[in-house]
Amino acid sequence: MRTLDWVDDHLRMIDQRRLPYALEYLELHRWQDVATAIADMAVRGAPAIGAAAAFGLALAAAQASGAEPADWWRGFDEAAAGLAATRPTAVNLVWALQRVRAAVAALGAGATAAELARATLAEARAIAAEDAAANAALGTHGARLVPAQARILTHCNAGSLATVEWGTALAVVYKAHAAGKQVHVWVDETRPRQQGARLTAWELQREGIPLNLISDTAAGRLFQTGQVDLVVVGADRIAANGDVVNKIGTYTVALLAREHGVPFYVAAPISTLDPATPCGAEVPIEERSAAEVLQINGQAIGPAGVTAANPAFDVTPHRLVSAIITERGIHRPPYDMGAVVAAAGAEERG
Ligand code: MRU
Repeated sequence: MRTLDWVDDHLRMIDQRRLPYALEYLELHRWQDVATAIADMAVRGAPAIGAAAAFGLALAAAQASGAEPADWWRGFDEAAAGLAATRPTAVNLVWALQRVRAAVAALGAGATAAELARATLAEARAIAAEDAAANAALGTHGARLVPAQARILTHCNAGSLATVEWGTALAVVYKAHAAGKQVHVWVDETRPRQQGARLTAWELQREGIPLNLISDTAAGRLFQTGQVDLVVVGADRIAANGDVVNKIGTYTVALLAREHGVPFYVAAPISTLDPATPCGAEVPIEERSAAEVLQINGQAIGPAGVTAANPAFDVTPHRLVSAIITERGIHRPPYDMGAVVAAAGAEERG
């Protein structure tokens, strides 16, 4: 299942706000609509928003393909700034925007707007294709960490829906399942946006993987009674020292895993590594609307006038992370994400 794809002249994506009730697609023809889709979480998950933003640039590029090159670049940079401003935490977003800009700028000063537009789309397509391949590869690596019978706890949705295809944490589950291992997944509901309940449970059910949905508050009981063999989650950004920034509540799960001697694995493509940021404390944490906490399905759950805090992500210190799984393999402490990125770059260059 592909979460998003370029179709003819526009971007098609699953509208994740509608799941699990309906599988509906958005057809987006303007970069501004892509920015809105990211901000409203019609598309979410770090790799998916990176790829969506890259296709957003392709739409901006096409919108201006008749322009003079200087005007074309002005429109491109305006779109890049607008897309970058949608969500601050997932590094894949700026990574994808910068990568597309660098690839297009490499055409040089003489390129026409039509050539620049073609190059923009080509790079966006490459990002999407590479994301799917990287996730499949990291899933295969990660499956080696899964015992023949395993009860796996995951948080949020780091599945196919959070990427172009395959997912990250769930790629590990899918590959282990395909290899004949008996996996059962504990799915944290993931308040307040319920990505676990709405998205992870939907995906796993479609793939025929046994699961139980749990309220976030039930996790401690499961660890304490020996019902969790390993944890695997995704990441929105992994700092140079291995600190993991992921959906709010991930840190709590990591603490539980450490207390109970359960391995805590993080699966992410190299596009999620941010070696320029030394540690998790320096990562901007998105604060979302209080209404997400104060309401469920539009119904108020607290007394009138009560206020709420809604940090969307937290930081799991690297000391709690048993291994980080990327498409290059399984990385153990001490973490040096800069070295992983450098090695991947060197291999690419040849
Ligand atoms: O707010 P979201 O739903 O975009 O948050 C998503 C997560 O936290 C995922 O775990 C992360 O992006 C990894 S996705 C492979």
